[in-house]
Amino acid sequence: MDKSNPLPFLSVMIILLLLPHVSNSQAAPSRDSIFVTFLQCLKSHTTQPDQVSNIVYAQTNASYTSIFEAFVRNARFNTPSTTKPLLIVTPLHENQVQATIVCSKTIGLHLKIRSGGHDFEGISYISEVPFVILDMFNFQNITVDIQNEIAVIQTGASLGQVYYRIWEKSKVHGFPAGVCSTVGVGGHLSGGGYGNMMRKFGLSIDNVVDAKIVDVNGRVLDKNSMGEDLFWAIRGGGGASFGVILSYTVKLVSVPEKVAVFQVDKTLDQNATDLVFQWQQVAPHTDDRLFMRLVLQPVSSKTLKGQKTIRASFQALFLGGADELVTLLEKEFPLLGLKKETCKEMSWIESVFWWANFNDGSSLNALLERNHYKVHSSKRKSDYVQSPIPKDGLKWILKKMVELGKVELVFNPYGGKMNEVAFDATPFPHRAGYLYKIQYTVSWEEKGDDVEKSLLSQIRMLYSYMTPFVSKNPRSAYVNYRDLDIGINRHGKDDYNDGVVYSIKYFNKNFERLVNVKTKVDPENFFWNEQSIPTLPNKA
Ligand SMILES: Cc1cc2nc3c(=O)[nH]c(=O)nc-3n(C[C@H](O)[C@H](O)[C@H](O)COP(=O)(O)OP(=O)(O)OC[C@H]3O[C@@H](n4cnc5c(N)ncnc54)[C@H](O)[C@@H]3O)c2cc1C
Ligand SMILES: *[C@@H]1O[C@H](CO)[C@@H](O)[C@H](O)[C@H]1NC(C)=O
Ligand SMILES: *[C@@H]1O[C@H](CO)[C@@H](O)[C@H](O)[C@H]1NC(C)=O
Ligand SMILES: *[C@@H]1O[C@H](CO)[C@@H](O)[C@H](O)[C@H]1NC(C)=O
Repeated sequence: MDKSNPLPFLSVMIILLLLPHVSNSQAAPSRDSIFVTFLQCLKSHTTQPDQVSNIVYAQTNASYTSIFEAFVRNARFNTPSTTKPLLIVTPLHENQVQATIVCSKTIGLHLKIRSGGHDFEGISYISEVPFVILDMFNFQNITVDIQNEIAVIQTGASLGQVYYRIWEKSKVHGFPAGVCSTVGVGGHLSGGGYGNMMRKFGLSIDNVVDAKIVDVNGRVLDKNSMGEDLFWAIRGGGGASFGVILSYTVKLVSVPEKVAVFQVDKTLDQNATDLVFQWQQVAPHTDDRLFMRLVLQPVSSKTLKGQKTIRASFQALFLGGADELVTLLEKEFPLLGLKKETCKEMSWIESVFWWANFNDGSSLNALLERNHYKVHSSKRKSDYVQSPIPKDGLKWILKKMVELGKVELVFNPYGGKMNEVAFDATPFPHRAGYLYKIQYTVSWEEKGDDVEKSLLSQIRMLYSYMTPFVSKNPRSAYVNYRDLDIGINRHGKDDYNDGVVYSIKYFNKNFERLVNVKTKVDPENFFWNEQSIPTLPNKA
């Protein structure tokens, strides 16, 4: 059972390849038979066989579409032409996860793992080959232990749930992770996880102390039994290449009773270019309690009718009071002209709420909601800046953004704790020497290929204009900002060579160790996806 048998896989492929040529009435039984075979396999591999029929959704099931769509966070990947999974499995117990892996492997079905579904390219729920989704959404338990300052978090939980459950137990503890409350723990923590406390406490993965994973043979392993290498790999190397992560145990961090936030907006006619230039000198070097994000958006000009300008929004979290923050920025960032009235003091959990863009009126338990924002279409890309962009360069970029009209940039400052963690302490390599990360973003509601084509071309053009100003050899990227433009693996005979292309950008010098771990724990490359870590060619 441990060796994957290629024959059943081939027979499924043949059945599916034949499907378009047969009528629907004939097609249904083939898919049905996969369903039946799968159920039978699950039954024989789980401790409670009678429960299995409650966790597998076939395409013909009335709830199939709503289960599929519940964690689709990008409308681009949910169209009539999107290839949908043959089955969606929604385990309630560990042994059902184990059985799902074993059965997918035995029957020869490709497996996609989904936790929060926030993957920017949707690769947790779409595929070009016949596949099954293992949906972890029932794994939402979070156990917070304030005495030992740790929490055990199942991977189907959202970040909002994590923050809320910590806050229920303590007002002076928190956890450093992303700002959007609906992001899933499974993808976020396995790919790094950054948020507005990263300059003080590092990434989420810098605060992981244990994990539970189901490997390709269906074994449940923890830090001790999985060994140092695999434990290292699933803290930043992306979980899906290695197995199904059930939970992470994390160290909580101390947050002050009062923190301060602000947002200051400036347009080009308000000297935004000078401010952006100075931001580069301040944000990555200032007090590590201060995280000052910069968002650059093309907007309609208020002073020049019918024209566009760029709005630079400085959004900050300070782990301290407003007086201290104002004094700090008067000295370090005088151009911003920050006033105490502009700052808001609040509890840490209220700052989580403020950053997650909830309305002031809603109650904190909105953090527990999984679907609080509208799902539209989007595309994201990432870059890293290692030396400040000269003022002329900035002027030119901002002008290009006005011309393009829709693409936004978000600058996330590094420094602080990020400089102190060695590049190879985790697979995430962008540490000392990286000033800030750029996120490119474009979102739209309109349907249709033309809109999509034109906006994708916009974001790619801006990415190309940025070439002189960003990291080179490799041009680095963040794996949690999944971008298939930088390379794709179609699981052909060039797996390894295809895999090198994007892996070097995401993991730089850590690629080699990741490949070795991958080859050791999943030699047959069962846990393959469009951007997985490849196995070494001679062993595959
Ligand atoms: C609105 C929005 C805001 C975001 N904000 C931030 C931010 O502030 N900071 C930041 O760092 N990132 C942010 N991201 C990116 C986010 O961290 C990644 O998209 C992350 O991978 C999402 O995790 P998920 O579980 O929701 O996604 P999924 O789509 O479920 O999974 C993403 C990847 O992880 C794999 N995976 C998921 N669960 C498991 C598991 N249990 N075991 C093994 N593999 C698994 C999937 O197969 C897939 O390859 C944001 C994304 C969105 C859409
Ligand atoms: C749909 O699938 C679910 C999960 O397996 C099951 O509980 C339910 O009975 C199915 N519904 C129908 C109508 O088959
Ligand atoms: C979550 O915890 C509850 C209560 O302890 C338990 O019954 C349930 O099985 C747990 N769920 C998972 C997926 O582990
Ligand atoms: C912009 O900068 C100029 C020159 O430094 C200065 O005179 C002017 O007051 C600034 N404008 C704003 C709106 O701050």
